[in-house]
Amino acid sequence: MSINILAIESSCDDTSAAILQNGRILSNVTASQTVHEKYGGVVPELASRAHMANIVPTVELALKKAGISVDQLSAVAFTRGPGLLGSLIVGVSFAKGLALRLDIPLIEVHHMQAHIHALFIPERKPSFPFLSLTVSGGHTQISIVHGPLDIEIIGRTRDDAAGEAFDKAGKMMQLPYPAGPVIDRLASKGKPIFTFPEPNIPGLDFSFSGLKTAFLRFLQHHVKNNPDFIQENLPDICASIQERIVSILLNKLRLAAVQTGIKEIGIAGGVSGNSRLRTALQEHGQSHNWNVYIPPLEYCTDNAAMIAMCGYFKFKNKQFTNQTVTPEARWIQ
Ligand code: KG4
Ligand code: ZN
Repeated sequence: MSINILAIESSCDDTSAAILQNGRILSNVTASQTVHEKYGGVVPELASRAHMANIVPTVELALKKAGISVDQLSAVAFTRGPGLLGSLIVGVSFAKGLALRLDIPLIEVHHMQAHIHALFIPERKPSFPFLSLTVSGGHTQISIVHGPLDIEIIGRTRDDAAGEAFDKAGKMMQLPYPAGPVIDRLASKGKPIFTFPEPNIPGLDFSFSGLKTAFLRFLQHHVKNNPDFIQENLPDICASIQERIVSILLNKLRLAAVQTGIKEIGIAGGVSGNSRLRTALQEHGQSHNWNVYIPPLEYCTDNAAMIAMCGYFKFKNKQFTNQTVTPEARWIQ
């Protein structure tokens, strides 16, 4: 009999539903919320309201695209955390209600572990153990992945996440939120002619707050002399800040590879959609003899397919959750 898993992701501002059958993704539908753009960041109250409106049509569409009816579902997987509490509550409650009605198992999934599971979706998968650089709007981590559900974090950010560094730099240049993809696009038309300091953090931990301050000072200094500095140099400024963020990430990844001796290397999370990071990692891979794994763009930013993949491994291990489960806004692994 087939294993059919419905997965729900609602940790931040994307409502996503996916159907997985026997380890293969059949559909992955995401309703993104544009309502936050004008506020320069996600407004939690508006996010949970939008999840409420979007969740039923999103699930219905995922089922329809997969050609699966609710009666054929084997389990419901959902993001338990970390994330915005009001957003998580919508997905958790929906998953609980549906599992109760269908009398099928519930599977809780950790959002950051699931980002790594995006690496198991394509045909070509990393073998264990591999290193994952997981870079999103709220987290920046290097992990040794010993097995699908055996993930050891060996480096993390001490302050801002890499995605936050992109978003805050974008805000200083008055770019819309989230600024990461906008900076990526603009950077492709510019050159990294401005330099920013590399933080001096020993070991595998990251820090982006010093870069944020340096970037602000750089802009203030130039704008004082030329009020149009940002508009006149936008592609070059974007290419420069992007180059520094990418080099910080890759330098730590290289150190992790040296320290662990692991040459199977993957990236995951929203920032892994960054085109410069993707090409720089490929180049590094070639010169350092790494086997590099990069998820398709659709599985980099928040999506339910990665939740489904993690749910599938837990289903096979019979790691089920009971109906008393509640969301964990700050779920520490
Ligand atoms: O994983 P994700 O969708 O949500 C979280 O779990 O946080 O990551 C969102 C983050 C945002 O900070 C966004 O600006 C960044 O990923 N991001 C990018 C790109 N696409 C998304 N940053 C740089 N370049 C991109 N192409
Ligand atoms: Zn995420």
